[in-house]
Amino acid sequence: MTIGKQEFSRRRKALMEMMEPNSIAILPSGRERTRSRDTDYFFRQDSDFYYLTGFTEPDAVLVLIPEREHGEFVLFCRDRDPEKEIWDGYRAGPEGAIVKYGADDAFPIDDIDEILSGLIEGRQRLYYAMGRDADFDKHVMDWVNRIRAKVRSGATPPGEFLDLDHILHDMRLYKSAAEIRLMEEAGRISAEAHIRAMRACKPGVYEYQLEAEIRHECAMQGAREQAYNPIVGGGKNACILHYVENTDKLKNGDLVLIDAGGEYQGYAADITRTFPVNGVFSKEQADIYRVVLRAQAAAMEKIVPGNHWNEPHDASVAAITQGLIDLGLLQGDLGDNIERETFKTFYMHRIGHWLGLDVHDVGDYKVGDEWRVLEPGMVMTVEPGIYISPDNEHVAKKWRGIGIRIEDDVLITKDGYRVLTDNAPRTIEEIEALMAQA
Ligand code: GLY
Ligand code: MN
Ligand code: MN
Repeated sequence: MTIGKQEFSRRRKALMEMMEPNSIAILPSGRERTRSRDTDYFFRQDSDFYYLTGFTEPDAVLVLIPEREHGEFVLFCRDRDPEKEIWDGYRAGPEGAIVKYGADDAFPIDDIDEILSGLIEGRQRLYYAMGRDADFDKHVMDWVNRIRAKVRSGATPPGEFLDLDHILHDMRLYKSAAEIRLMEEAGRISAEAHIRAMRACKPGVYEYQLEAEIRHECAMQGAREQAYNPIVGGGKNACILHYVENTDKLKNGDLVLIDAGGEYQGYAADITRTFPVNGVFSKEQADIYRVVLRAQAAAMEKIVPGNHWNEPHDASVAAITQGLIDLGLLQGDLGDNIERETFKTFYMHRIGHWLGLDVHDVGDYKVGDEWRVLEPGMVMTVEPGIYISPDNEHVAKKWRGIGIRIEDDVLITKDGYRVLTDNAPRTIEEIEALMAQA
């Protein structure tokens, strides 16, 4: 299961069709980053670059030049070097860029300063992701300035600079059939990882040991990287939204919140499950859990093409606020609480985000002044939560320190939605049954 060469080609063509006449687009690959001294972080390709090329090496630059006679898809990449490859691994080289990745033309990255100005020259408009990488901005200006320096000899530098993200990120928001298959797989594997963590959980286990269970299951199934740093928070740690220390011992009577998803073939899953360390929910934990679960269901009901982005969020706010009133954590009536945003003490984030090659994927949430309308092929998370601070003196002691989030990944379809992460148990009954068997 993978994205085929033809699909990468279709994407480039679609992007080029949206570009203004007589233009050129330039996109840098990701860069290797030092972890410490002479060791690097494991390299992960920049998502935009990957989306358009499938090319997974650093030190490369993609150039798209619609209607260029000698080819529209130009790739600069590291040259082959048998000596270096013995130490650092395989390289495609410009030849591989042509044969394996379908480039029309390819050059060694070391020659880019000499060649790229010539490719830009004569093009009126230049697209790139301005301001994302200061070093690259400087390179682009250098290439343009080389042309400006030659205007008296008849050279014509580009006169307009356009934001590439705007059109590219809109494309990435709509997932193709092949992308959906990969995201289903990322969801399936990650759901199994959560099941594995539930099975391994018992009082005395450390948070990092559940993280290890998640990483193991994902990696064994080909999702070698996590799509983001896993969050494993026992007890009150669950109230810290991005808790990633994962160092504490899990206690009998506490809940544990795990927010983790594997990355499969570049595509992210993003799942949160919250379950009792000892396998059985207490009365208060179950009360709050049911409110969050109802809020998730209420949000999902609003996921229908034609509804706008904020409708699921509003539905989750109403369900959580009502639930908190019913349990006595908020006072007064629903409308008044919503208006005063009292729920924000407990539910301070939004219902979700786009999901794809990045966990917080690209794509606008508003178009002009209006919330974006949901359309088939978009993938989003649905992740309501209630977090009751251990220091909240306005609520009875029995509630304090409970943090619960339930998060699933949802594909918007023609008629509604499909949950890609359904295999991870979600109801109290399912979770307790699974943990009882372990
Ligand atoms: N895991 C990050 C998030 O849920 O948005
Ligand atoms: Mn999320
Ligand atoms: Mn998450």
